[in-house]
Amino acid sequence: MARLLILGAGYIGAALAARALEAGGEVVLADNWYATDRAQLDGLAARGADVVTLDIRDRDAVEGMLRATAPDRVHLLAAQASRPLSITEPDYTEATNVTGVRRVAEAVAARGGPPLVFASSLHVYGSELSGQVAADRPYGVQGDLAHLSKVYGELCLRLYAQRHGLAVVLLRLGIVYGSGPVVHERAGSQTVVDRFAGLAAAGEPLPFDDGGTATIGVVHLDDCARILHDCVPGPGVVAHDVAAQTITVADVAALAEGRAPAGGAAYTVRSPFAYTHEVAGYLAR
Ligand SMILES: NC(=O)c1ccc[n+]([C@@H]2O[C@H](COP(=O)([O-])OP(=O)(O)OC[C@H]3O[C@@H](n4cnc5c(N)ncnc54)[C@H](O)[C@@H]3O)[C@@H](O)[C@H]2O)c1
Repeated sequence: MARLLILGAGYIGAALAARALEAGGEVVLADNWYATDRAQLDGLAARGADVVTLDIRDRDAVEGMLRATAPDRVHLLAAQASRPLSITEPDYTEATNVTGVRRVAEAVAARGGPPLVFASSLHVYGSELSGQVAADRPYGVQGDLAHLSKVYGELCLRLYAQRHGLAVVLLRLGIVYGSGPVVHERAGSQTVVDRFAGLAAAGEPLPFDDGGTATIGVVHLDDCARILHDCVPGPGVVAHDVAAQTITVADVAALAEGRAPAGGAAYTVRSPFAYTHEVAGYLAR
């Protein structure tokens, strides 16, 4: 069974760890506890995950962790992932998402390259999308450092992969929804599907800008964790999009309130993966 080193023990990393443990794998979950409390991992630690403190900005520490754990795969999920925090904490966002990614690449290269899976974002294509989006679409204009840094992260990992013969998969994740072992309570951390589900259940109005016409690509946490877990990088670098469907924000609101969705998503995503969850089923009440 595979031994995974998961850098970033947050919302997605914890769900990936749970999936790997269920499959009989070994898991090392590493984090600097910037956005996640270590105690949130107590349940996974009790199930056998090795929960460790590591900052991806510390190249020597990352290399030491690779030496100590000898993983079959590295999943790079550690990031300052919040758009609002990227505005209030730009230096930290860059230090982790830019310098940190490069230092992980250096450490992986120095260790002879365990295959690496990088959690990127569907946002690398920009925001004004139409037609069918596929992984060969060029990068688009970015509106914040959390997403701009994903473009750098992808290109930096490509550079190191080419220079050192590393195996890398870039997974461009849509907005992830659903419950898991780690759910952040802080304001603004829930993505729109879960936020609308909670507001609708409480009978509150659902706030959205621009009439909710914005289209989002979305994927349920269980599907996301399975796709990450089953991802085994081969030689070279490949990029894949991870979104089960695209939907307008207005339709997320309609489904959360039990109304019929109007349709009209501005783009679709061509993804090579199978998905078992849809927003309509998740929000059905
Ligand atoms: N959740 C989504 O909808 C979504 C969508 C697209 C892409 N992503 C990407 O997937 C990855 C995981 O996202 P998530 O939702 O689990 O976010 P998260 O914030 O829950 O997890 C990221 C983890 O990284 C840790 N971290 C931050 N700085 C670090 C550092 N310097 N060293 C070590 N650890 C550090 C945080 O403490 C946190 O636990 C991120 O790269 C994110 O950008 C997430």
